[in-house]
Amino acid sequence: MCGIIGFTGRCEAAPILLEGLRRLEYRGYDSAGLVTGTGRQLHVRKKAGRLCELLRLLAAQPAAGCYGIGHTRWATHGPANDRNAHPHTDSRGWIAVVHNGVIDNYAVLREQLQRQGVVFRSDTDTEVLAHLIARCYQGDLVGAVQQALQLVRGTYGLAVVCQQEPGIIVAARLGSPLVIGSGRAGRYLASDAHALAGWVDKLHYLEDGQICQLSGEDCELFDQRLAPLTITLQDAPGELTDGLLDKGDYPHFMLKEIYEQPEALTNAMRGRLHEADATAHFGGLNLTAAQLRQVERIIITGCGTSYYAGLVGEYLIEELARLPVEVEYASELRYRHPPLDRHTILLAITQSGETADTLAAVREAKRRGQITLAICNVVGSSIAREADGGVYLHAGPEIGVASTKAFTAQCLVLTLLALYLGRLRHLSAAQGQRILQELRALPEAVRAAFACHTQVKSIAEKYAHVHNALYLGRQYLYPVALEGALKLKEISYIHAEGYPAAEMKHGPIALVDEHTPSVFLVPRGQVFDKVLANMQEIKARGGPIIAVVSGHDPEVAALADDVISIPHVPEYLQPIVAVVPLQLLAYEMALLRGCDVDRPRHLAKSVTVE
Ligand code: F6R
Repeated sequence: MCGIIGFTGRCEAAPILLEGLRRLEYRGYDSAGLVTGTGRQLHVRKKAGRLCELLRLLAAQPAAGCYGIGHTRWATHGPANDRNAHPHTDSRGWIAVVHNGVIDNYAVLREQLQRQGVVFRSDTDTEVLAHLIARCYQGDLVGAVQQALQLVRGTYGLAVVCQQEPGIIVAARLGSPLVIGSGRAGRYLASDAHALAGWVDKLHYLEDGQICQLSGEDCELFDQRLAPLTITLQDAPGELTDGLLDKGDYPHFMLKEIYEQPEALTNAMRGRLHEADATAHFGGLNLTAAQLRQVERIIITGCGTSYYAGLVGEYLIEELARLPVEVEYASELRYRHPPLDRHTILLAITQSGETADTLAAVREAKRRGQITLAICNVVGSSIAREADGGVYLHAGPEIGVASTKAFTAQCLVLTLLALYLGRLRHLSAAQGQRILQELRALPEAVRAAFACHTQVKSIAEKYAHVHNALYLGRQYLYPVALEGALKLKEISYIHAEGYPAAEMKHGPIALVDEHTPSVFLVPRGQVFDKVLANMQEIKARGGPIIAVVSGHDPEVAALADDVISIPHVPEYLQPIVAVVPLQLLAYEMALLRGCDVDRPRHLAKSVTVE
């Protein structure tokens, strides 16, 4: 979602801002802009569309100056056009603002300002901030920002410059991430630490309510009342390297990340398999075994793909640990009032660690005194810092907007957690040993699943023209059906629905015709015969069937139009292997339809608005 970059120092800002914006592109955006300053003049350049449009504009109208801020916008208030792109300025053009988040009371503020004669030039909520800051400005930018923010309700990560104060950037955070860093050339600011790769060796993640003022030489931090705070600079995370955004030999990040899964799984397991105790163990749960034995119920929450991993977690934890689990969309949970007792813990699942609804659900649970844990990929992210404890995925950065390796790593960490909780309760050492052994073989099974790629490509050619598709699975593979359908719709724009296979006849079967393929997940397992019967129902109505099976399965082959074979693994690990052909199918279909696989329309990598 929207990205922010800022620089003030001893060299030209525009090239740094542009490179930072390029690094933020993966988050998803629809327009981009920047402002730099020379003497007492600001140079605002902004353009709808991809970054190349902004580059073209800058070639014609360069923006000079050694300080500035930049932004990639993901439209919330007003369409994606030049006018609505950030930065936004006040009426005199003294103040320029870039902003992530949403100002909830912007309509009231806008009306008040209009009554005072302010003419708005965009449809955005952000422009309100520029006018408010200008009205509060009396020669002290940080003071003006602080005062203006008192009037605002909502969420923000924002950066502000003022032509009266050359070289100064003021930034503030409430609910939308910002990180500041210092490097040899000067001071930097970004909404995502990846954008600062190679430039900084020290970082400070702003906390909610903090305001900071950057200059080429200095960095000052304040609380909401402008009382000075001490900056705690941390080492930049190890994975913050220049090579981060490199696709290597792959044409797209998504394909690279699909193929990185065996390694990501190995990394997620590294150091966590405890041979002697036949269990898994984790460094960051911050809960003792005794405390975990007290847990009587787990509520898992997340959004999108992470929510689907949570559904896999429900099956895993109930089976291996015999603990009741509920899975709830974070956007729903945050406004619900489920009765919770002190033996219930909240487990948030999130790749980015910045998803606004998931963060809000964690905060709400904490407010009510619940213990919160997070399974998270991005080290130092807001949710990782907010939760009482948690487990990092160590899957490596995920840049493609469609989540792939994070999903399989999430399912794996949930398996480890289920094993750990199970061993604290009823699982025997022998059962624990068997699970450890099966886990160790898992990365190889995923690698072997890539053998289906050529065949998946030809299946994609057969079906790339369709308008609808169904994904069907049962038990552990029901969430995988949901995930397969999500992958297809988000990157190929084909309408796809995931269902528990038996639910079909309660309505969706009406959609079946010869132009609507059904992707069935039918590896051998306890409900194999039942899924076979569900396949018959589709077949009888003339629907084409693509079946994902383990090994060679003549019974399924007799019914299906196309069969994709994956390696045999135990049922509780099938989600991690069975999702691979679905990821590849979505990728190949999207390519054939000419879609931008890594940057699908309307989507953002990390959804920082509610
Ligand atoms: C789909 C996808 C999204 C995310 C969702 C949650 O491919 O990536 O559905 O899973 O936006 O994001 P995180 O996991 O960062 O909280």
